Amino acid sequence: SDPDLVARARAAKAALGDRVFILGHHYQRDEVIEFADVTGDSFKLARDAAARPEAEFIVFCGVHFMAESADILTSAAQQVVLPDLAAGCSMADMATAEQVAECWDVLTEAGVADATVPVAYMNSSADIKAFTGRHGGTICTSSNAKRALDWAFEQGQKVLFLPDQHLGRNTAVLEMGITLDECVLYNPHKPNGGLTAEELRNAKMILWRGHCSVHGRFTAESVNEVRERIPGVTVLVHPECRHEVVTAADLVGSTEYIIKALDAAEPGSKWAIGTELNLVRRLAKAHPDKEIVFLDRTVCFCSTMNRIDLPHLVWALESLVEGRVPNVITVDPETEKYAKAALDRMLALP
Ligand code: 13P
Ligand code: SF4
Repeated sequence: SDPDLVARARAAKAALGDRVFILGHHYQRDEVIEFADVTGDSFKLARDAAARPEAEFIVFCGVHFMAESADILTSAAQQVVLPDLAAGCSMADMATAEQVAECWDVLTEAGVADATVPVAYMNSSADIKAFTGRHGGTICTSSNAKRALDWAFEQGQKVLFLPDQHLGRNTAVLEMGITLDECVLYNPHKPNGGLTAEELRNAKMILWRGHCSVHGRFTAESVNEVRERIPGVTVLVHPECRHEVVTAADLVGSTEYIIKALDAAEPGSKWAIGTELNLVRRLAKAHPDKEIVFLDRTVCFCSTMNRIDLPHLVWALESLVEGRVPNVITVDPETEKYAKAALDRMLALP
């Protein structure tokens, strides 16, 4: 990266000292990760954000829903800055507050709402987290989805899982003994979600029809192709991948799981990884003694994660030095109250 920008980022960070705390998600570019005080998956970053009450500014190098969660979990005096406001998440955008409220009406009409506990993936807007909190549900991430579902099925007979159908289905079917027939897909673009009242009554998992535009692009073909190309390869994928991909792979796990698996891997072992490309490249560089390849060469970076680049980070940090707080992410108090209830339930999971 540009040495001038690197020097400016260093100088601005040094000038701010403990006033600023920089969080970096694993899918961020190397040039940004270099300046992160902590890195992590969305679960770890949610906890870490709350662990620095003395920092006036939290600069969140990740996407919008993560910055919102950081705002909810930090004190009112702390300001959360997202270096580029266009860093959203296509998955989070697939469930709006209006659509989810309408879905709850459909469940109520079918007589199943009372038996249903909402579980929202971290990758959702603060509005959806607040909906979840208001209806007695919890948030989950890819590293605690099973624990969240175990908890939810202690509270009710059904789960409404938002917004990632794949994480919901993969966790239910592969880790909870729920069958594919017990999962139904709620399509917010169809009347009544495209489901009959009977289908809703018979279902255990009501999956929202959302997906990740990066992980959703891996196919079972990519898995077969890499097995042919690299004999003896272990295929490890993120649970946001489609069910057919996860069942074709050898291992499935969250970002933190993938990192730990590669740390523990034998020298000389061969791995094909199905997750975001920035992370896979960084892992390949960190483990030159292992052969680590990207599962499918036609799949790209997460374009919104990549919007946070060094020029945006420098701009955000230099603005703070000059006394301006740019791109502040704030969640209104009413939304925050209920979203926090749902997030706190997640943080209290065993
Ligand atoms: P985790 O950080 O929970 O692994 O989520 C992956 C992801 O897609 C984040 O946007
Ligand atoms: Fe959203 Fe997928 Fe990008 Fe994560 S990787 S921010 S889920 S689009």
